[in-house]
Amino acid sequence: MGNSTIPNTFGLSVTADNFLTFTTVPQLRTILNELRQPFIVVGEASNILFTTKHYKGTVLRSGITGYEFTEDGPDILVTAGSGVHWDDFVAEVVRRNLWGAENLSYIPGTVGASAVQNIGAYGAEAKDIIHTVQAIEIATGDKRIFSCEECQYAYRSSIFKHELANSYVIISVTYRLSRTPRPNLTYKPLAEAFDNKANPSLDEIRNTVIQIRRSKLPEPSEIGSAGSFFMNPVITIDEYEKLKKIYPDIPHYEVEDPKNHCITGIKTPAAWLIDHAGLKGFSIGGASVHLTQPLVLINRSGTATSDDIIALSSHVIDTVKNMYNITLRPEVIFV
Ligand code: EPU
Repeated sequence: MGNSTIPNTFGLSVTADNFLTFTTVPQLRTILNELRQPFIVVGEASNILFTTKHYKGTVLRSGITGYEFTEDGPDILVTAGSGVHWDDFVAEVVRRNLWGAENLSYIPGTVGASAVQNIGAYGAEAKDIIHTVQAIEIATGDKRIFSCEECQYAYRSSIFKHELANSYVIISVTYRLSRTPRPNLTYKPLAEAFDNKANPSLDEIRNTVIQIRRSKLPEPSEIGSAGSFFMNPVITIDEYEKLKKIYPDIPHYEVEDPKNHCITGIKTPAAWLIDHAGLKGFSIGGASVHLTQPLVLINRSGTATSDDIIALSSHVIDTVKNMYNITLRPEVIFV
């Protein structure tokens, strides 16, 4: 048994028995055929918290890269290998003047992870552009093509995180992008950054998104984190009305059922709840609540352990629960 180091964006010191990268589908099938121990599939482990220093099993990573472009009426279907670094994909399609991915600039992770996690930011989600997802069934080695609908996308969620968790390995994702300019400035801070300038270019949107992310979020190459540690909670309208009496400024967004067009709940920003609980900068060991975006937990010292991060996460969850009676759910997956 080896002792391979597992790169992860938290910058935790983690090893596993095996760390295997596949670059072709036949290679993946051979690996799956021969696997005799627990395993997990990761992209860049940018949304994963390894809870132990050593993972007793195999960590599998996609190294499938490359792009294919197909005309489809006014749109372009772009297929990218699941191992492509997400922001390289965004840079590539922006360079080719294709619209749809620009608001998702600079998100850490891979193309494969975008389809598992339904990554989202600045008024856009991966599901808005995902056309199909190509994957290999772990039990049989068979290839299956999932339509976007079959992936059952929801906020930071898909069938690959629930019903089909650990059942498929994604090999590529096809996105539907547009040659026609379609700036999406629904996220207020983004519109404000353009001072309501009409028709910003693709490059301008990408650069502005990168600038906003850099001003709020820890720089991935400098400070370890897994992006948002918690999801934004959705509470009932009654719960919201009660909270509003105590905290009149609590930000809120109505959550609408897309089918029935009725309001099903109220989303409140976890960042606001954590901030107003006085937890910005709160630390346990080497782990801290980030100062400019408190829903991000960081490896401040560079030497934080997973225990520090777990203890910090529990403290944040308990404090928020006691103060607002809201239970925060981690977005990060504990392995
Ligand atoms: N806020 C505070 N204090 C702060 C920071 C924010 O009170 O120090 C409040 C403000 O009211 C602000 C609100 O939180 O209006 C929302 O903040 P922000 O716009 O930064 O977005 P978010 O809801 O906290 C989500 C995503 C981010 C994504 C941004 C931008 C989740 C869990 N997170 O954060 O995603 O970049 O929107 O669209 O949905 C990630 O998933 O890793 C991630 C960074």
